[in-house]
Amino acid sequence: MPQVFIKTYGCQMNERDSEAVAAQLMARGHTLVADESAADVVLLNTCSVRDLAEQKALGKMSAVAGVARKQGRQPVLGFLGCMAQSRGQELAHGSVRLVVGTQKFHRIGEHLDALLQGRESHIVDTAEEAGSQSTIREHLIDPAGPRAVTAFVSIMQGCNQHCTFCIVPATRGAERSRPIPEIVDEVRDLVGRGVREVTLLGQIVTSYGRRDYPVRDGRSAFVQLLEAVHEVDGLERIRLTSPHPKGYGDDLIDAFGRLPKLVEHAHLPLQSGSDRILRQMHRGYTRDRYLGIVERLRKRHPDMAVTTDIIVGFPGETEEDFEQTVSLCHEAAFDQAYVFKYSQRRDTPAAAMPDQLSEAAIEERHARLLTRVNEIASRKYAERVGRTVEILAEGPSRRNPSRFEGRTRDNRIVIFEGDERHRGHLLRVQIETASAFTLYGIPELAGVSDVEESGSSDAPSLS
Ligand code: SAH
Ligand code: F3S
Repeated sequence: MPQVFIKTYGCQMNERDSEAVAAQLMARGHTLVADESAADVVLLNTCSVRDLAEQKALGKMSAVAGVARKQGRQPVLGFLGCMAQSRGQELAHGSVRLVVGTQKFHRIGEHLDALLQGRESHIVDTAEEAGSQSTIREHLIDPAGPRAVTAFVSIMQGCNQHCTFCIVPATRGAERSRPIPEIVDEVRDLVGRGVREVTLLGQIVTSYGRRDYPVRDGRSAFVQLLEAVHEVDGLERIRLTSPHPKGYGDDLIDAFGRLPKLVEHAHLPLQSGSDRILRQMHRGYTRDRYLGIVERLRKRHPDMAVTTDIIVGFPGETEEDFEQTVSLCHEAAFDQAYVFKYSQRRDTPAAAMPDQLSEAAIEERHARLLTRVNEIASRKYAERVGRTVEILAEGPSRRNPSRFEGRTRDNRIVIFEGDERHRGHLLRVQIETASAFTLYGIPELAGVSDVEESGSSDAPSLS
């Protein structure tokens, strides 16, 4: 049976797509391998949002092809996902024989069969497919392996916002949502397999179902979905990514707190703090409106974590525009901010705008802003020391496998002395110390049963 290596570049949506592809291939009898050097099939699922991601994937593929050539092997090499969608045919040359776009992940198994059996030499499949939003469904959960505590659930595909810098509407297509019952069934199935926390995924989740489910009692389709998922017994936490600020209407802000499983974390991609640049970006909000949302969220819950994405060096960004972004970061006191250097993307309106900044200018602003936002964020971590927080224990710490890690409701990693008995349980942890982006704590033994509601048979006996 073919041995398949899959590597993912990019966001959680890409990770989720790769997981569904891996599950599909395993169901067909393929084996997943962790090392590409002996694989029969090497698939790179690639991001297009910034040039750097594309260059990394292209570099990796040529390295893989070079090694295979030296070994005298001819594995099937393929690109999947956003870069495959935007570049299509131009990628399918030499040893790259498979190019599969964002609406065709579920066809990869049959395409690989055709290639491996020699029925086809190259396949490029980047067409649109009606209903493809419902094909990212299968999960890789090994019933014999350690319990899967968290899972990602794709609720929609595409984006209609057309921010002028962004390639996603071109690579992912127009907004298409899955029906609520289908999503709820998937969540229920995951919970039945041990999952306690789901992250609802889409390019613009706050626009979920706009055309399919009319506003009901002042509640948007997305809030209706949150309510339906919230009903799933045994589910403890709901996260979402990625929303758009324009989606934070009163109904969604009210849902924080009203729906106890919806965690106190709002990702609110800002992109710029300058109204002039926001208009050029076609973001659909002003600086004031944005700050108003942050204020209402924090009023709803004082500890609401607000995180963001920012682009520095958008065409025409002046020092004044940039200073507006810096000052907004101070006002909003972001719990975490991802700062990106503007990257020109093909066929986007921003790529054709005048006054593109030099790389050096972008680098310099990027470094300056990063220092500021990291200072603000690490202060917020330090504020947690001495508090008792609820965490969901996920598994061995990625940094230090001899310890365990979990996350707070507001999405901070907490490392603690733990073991497999803790996995999948809610614990109360006293925070002892903080580093820039990690908390360290001690579980409160008596607190375990207070927050533990699952009644599962493998509950830790910590008394
Ligand atoms: N809602 C989407 C956002 C797209 S990409 C999602 O999460 O799928 C994530 C982030 O990448 C954006 O919020 C933006 O900050 C950044 N980004 C998008 N296009 C970019 C570009 N051309 N250059 C630099 N950063 C970009
Ligand atoms: Fe991209 Fe803007 Fe949509 S950043 S994914 S076009 S909301």
